Amino acid sequence: MNTIQQKVEHCTQRVRVCLKEMPRIGIVLGSGLGDLAEAMEDPIYVPYASIDGFPTTTAPGHVGRFVFGRFEGIPTVMMQGRIHLYEGYPVSDCVLPIRLMASLGIESLILTNAAGAVNKTYHVGDFCLIKDHISSFVPSPLLGENVRAWGVRFPDMSEVYDRELRERMRRAGETAGCTLHDGVYMQFTGPAYETPAEIRMAATLGADMVGMSTVIEAVAAHHMGVRLVGVSLATNLAAGVGAEKLSEEEVIEEGKKAATRFQAMLRGFVAL
Ligand code: HPA
Repeated sequence: MNTIQQKVEHCTQRVRVCLKEMPRIGIVLGSGLGDLAEAMEDPIYVPYASIDGFPTTTAPGHVGRFVFGRFEGIPTVMMQGRIHLYEGYPVSDCVLPIRLMASLGIESLILTNAAGAVNKTYHVGDFCLIKDHISSFVPSPLLGENVRAWGVRFPDMSEVYDRELRERMRRAGETAGCTLHDGVYMQFTGPAYETPAEIRMAATLGADMVGMSTVIEAVAAHHMGVRLVGVSLATNLAAGVGAEKLSEEEVIEEGKKAATRFQAMLRGFVAL
């Protein structure tokens, strides 16, 4: 058996024994958005550090634990903190939590992130529904031996972000009073923010938003047949698009400012 598969199964088993019911929805909370997990009813906390072999998060604004419970009455798991490539973990470890949630049986996955707006019509505080992504600048989580039980060797990528879930999120966002664009998200490894020249390149290639996460998670989830939707919050204008210098404080601060609207949108999505 493939060692990555063994690691996922081992970690999944460790988590499964803590749970009374399996989650139906998985939600990954991006930078500054972790407080959304406070909305969970009857929470069970599983810190990443308590799972033998599991990568732990070192990123600011990321607590580093699973929160299991009910959200709008639906069994849900939220990730308070994700694992990023820039933390030095191999891509297989970065997507291990995604594979773990898929192994627990989630039917749908919501990926959220803080991102820089490349599209000049976007404003700080706007949301963007990810309609597609550019993965070409980060390693694929599918490199290496394919685990047939998870998915096919050459997965189709023509619609990674589920059309129906996107429509549902759009309706929930409108009800919550969020400005929601439709855009292409491009992942860089970070941890340095992009240069203005890199942002011009991203714009030329068709990106509307840039960030340091999400795409590898989307690829792994789609490979495993999990329906998914992605939402970016524009916490800043990308380098060179605005005059401001970029900082993690600004990213986290804008995430916190948007948290109430974000939570209303997610509640609406789950309840619809
Ligand atoms: N670039 C990369 N990642 C980010 C940004 C950005 O401008 N903003 C928030 N996360």
